[in-house]
Amino acid sequence: MGVLSDDLRARAEELASRYPVRRSALLPLLYLVQAEQGHVTDEGMHEVAELLDLTTAEVEAVATFYTMFKKAPAGRWLVSVCTNVSCALAGAREVYDRAVADAGEGSREVTTDGLFTVEEVECLGACDQAPVVQVNYCSYARVDPDAVGELIEALRRGEVPEPVAGPKPVEHAATARILAGLGDERG
Ligand code: FES
Repeated sequence: MGVLSDDLRARAEELASRYPVRRSALLPLLYLVQAEQGHVTDEGMHEVAELLDLTTAEVEAVATFYTMFKKAPAGRWLVSVCTNVSCALAGAREVYDRAVADAGEGSREVTTDGLFTVEEVECLGACDQAPVVQVNYCSYARVDPDAVGELIEALRRGEVPEPVAGPKPVEHAATARILAGLGDERG
């Protein structure tokens, strides 16, 4: 049994057909694997290479370049704390430390309950809103340690707070489906 079901392979073919050159579908197909497996595995990269007539090394080079592709299991909620200069000056280190502590054991990889992964990220391009925290790539502005603690507790209760702009985040696998181009299950 491969990583992608027959249905998902058909979706992958449909995604590849959107581009004049099949290899241009590499990023969407990697997101498709991430949506299916929760992260991008060696088997998933091998299948993507086969589908797009690429070598596994070519696929791996791309998958390891972009940090949004996870090579290890991630939590349902990926909490990304910007610790670059503007956010650091506004207290991002304390925000990160609080997020790691409140998310629970293992949060730098994935918490034992599978809910959270906390990571440090480079500038998110919203320095005027520092410190910036993203949950599954949706931004929250001027987040202090108490605010990140409340954000994590809300997610733990099954509540998703409104981000600073745009729709609320969805869980990590559903986010990958959106980024693959398969649409938002919320409609
Ligand atoms: S330094 Fe954090 S958003 Fe720019």
